[in-house]
Parts: sequence; structure tokens; C-alpha cells
Amino acid sequence: MLVDSYNRNIDYLRISVTERCNFRCQYCMPEKPFSWTPRENLLSFEELFEFVKIAIDNGIKKIRITGGEPLLREDIDIFINMIYKYKNDIDLAMTTNGSLLKNFAEKFKKAGLKRINISLDSLNRETAWHIAQRDVLSDVLSGIYEAIRVGLIVKLNTVPVKNVNDNEIIELLEFGIKNDITIRFIEYMENSFASRSLVGLTGLEILNKIGEKYKFIDEGVELGSPSHYYKLENNYRFGIIEPHRDDFCSHCNRIRLTAEGDLIPCLYFDESKSIKSSIRNGNILEAKNILYEIIRDKPEKNRWSGDGESSNRAFYETGG
Ligand code: 5AD
Ligand code: SF4
Repeated sequence: MLVDSYNRNIDYLRISVTERCNFRCQYCMPEKPFSWTPRENLLSFEELFEFVKIAIDNGIKKIRITGGEPLLREDIDIFINMIYKYKNDIDLAMTTNGSLLKNFAEKFKKAGLKRINISLDSLNRETAWHIAQRDVLSDVLSGIYEAIRVGLIVKLNTVPVKNVNDNEIIELLEFGIKNDITIRFIEYMENSFASRSLVGLTGLEILNKIGEKYKFIDEGVELGSPSHYYKLENNYRFGIIEPHRDDFCSHCNRIRLTAEGDLIPCLYFDESKSIKSSIRNGNILEAKNILYEIIRDKPEKNRWSGDGESSNRAFYETGG
């Protein structure tokens, strides 16, 4: 078991397989073109899998593949299947922008993927375009419907931003109800790569908007998840993720691995340790020791709970 210095059981590993993305979401990516890490600096799937085995053997029970956009990396279904074959009861999930999913969902399901979270910030073509800075809506919707069709457990992620998509909260919620998939509204996390002008809605502001039309009851925070859940009278459950809340980190169960092999104990903090050379040298013991060090040094809290704080970490590198 992996337990940190604050007695949190760390059993969830998020792997960002690429920082590249075909979207430029305003809350995530810089507006200006920038250069990507050269491909040769990235760990191969075989190398990432060497670390995955160590992580699973030491207590990781849930793995999520993220990006950037994970579908931009070739043969991602083979990587999913490597993990699935190693331990088929692992909770194996992915986070994607959905744009390329239509042609891959079935492959992923067959490879052993169980759950998929898809970003959906708007149901209006122009607004979705404005946020992602690409005309994305119809491809994303096709991806969502295909994921549902092949039997993946689908959740939607929405980041409500003032005067951009905050007028669509009810509509997005009703899209979730209609398709019987959970939607989670995520508070915008300030970061130095995002567009300067964005102002996110707080969890309370989101709930107030929903409350204008629906009654709901508070179901509390779900174990092993960052989300606080609420239930409507028709039993539909939706989530709110509030990283600004003071107690957000008290039940954190996760660490992150980037495509370059950096292990990151907390999204906010700049600290990380590389497992790249240990893995490339076949030094499994050293990689395992780095895993334990990262968990020992995992900070108690992020810094969003403080006023006006922002992150220097790029979420497209760490998978949000
Ligand atoms: N604030 C909140 N959520 C973010 N995401 C990406 N950047 C941010 C941010 N700055 C979320 C998106 C996406 C997931 C990958 O991370 O909603 O669904
Ligand atoms: Fe790409 Fe996801 Fe970042 Fe949007 S939030 S730019 S889809 S990595």
C-alpha cells in the first residue's frame, strides 16, 4: 500500500501519454504557437508499462490515461491492453476531448478500457469553437454517442466560465440527464498558460444556477473521487469539482506521470522526480524508490485555496 505523510492512501495513477493536443482550450493552452517536447524524449509504451507494473505491484488500483489529447498518440489501445492483461481488475479509465473518439471507442472497449471522461463545455457550435479555438462540437458529440454505444461508462467534464458558457449550465445538465451520463462541473483552475481574461464560476455559483430550475440533495464527496455529488428529484446525479475549497486535498488519492517520465505528487506544485533513467537502465528498484519518495513528499494541499493563486504547471502536460 502507498500511504503518504498525511495518511492518505495513494491508489490512483494518472498517466499523461502526450502533451500534444488538437484543441487550444482557453483555460488550458497558450494562445501563441509553441514547441512540443521532441518525441525521442518521451517514454515508449513499453517503458511506461515498466513503471505501471511497479505502481500496480505497490498498490495502485486505478489508472487513468490522459494528455494533452491521448488519442494523438498512436497505438494507445495497445497500451491499454498491456495494462489490462497485467491486471484485468484495474480500474482503467481515460480522459479525452472526444474529437477523435468515434473511430476508437470500440477498440478501447475491446482493449479493456472501462470508463471515459469527455470534455464538453458547450452545446452551441460557436461557443464550443470559441473555447477550444477549433470547430469541434460535432466531432465531440459523435465521440460521446459512440462511447455510450460501445458500453464505456461515460462522464462529461465541463468548466463553466463567466460570460462564455455559464448560460448553458442547465442545458448541459439536461444533456447528461437525457443521455443518462454523469456530468461534472469543474471550477476553473487559474494557471499561467490560460487566457488571462477568464473568470471561472465557483461551485456555489454553479449550484445556484442549477437551483433556479431543479431541486437537489447533497450526497457528499464520493470516496476516491475529487467530486462532490448532488442528486435531483428524478435520481439523476451530477458532480461539482471544487479545487478552490479548503478541504479539497484532504482526500486526494492520486499521483501523476508525464510522458517524459516525471512523477508529480500534486498538480499545483512544481516539484517532480524523473523515473526516466531508472526505467531506461532497467533499474526497477530505483524507480520503485522514486515512487515511494514522491508519495512521502506529497504536499498536504494545493495552493488554489489561497486568494489569487495560479499554477505554473501546464495541465496539457499533466493531464489536468
Ligand atoms: N481548470 C479546470 N479544469 C481544467 N481542465 C483543463 N484545464 C483546466 C483548468 N484550467 C479540465 C478539462 C478537461 C480535463 C482534461 O481537464 O475540463 O476535461
Ligand atoms: Fe487539449 Fe484538454 Fe487542454 Fe483542451 S483541456 S487544450 S482538450 S488538453
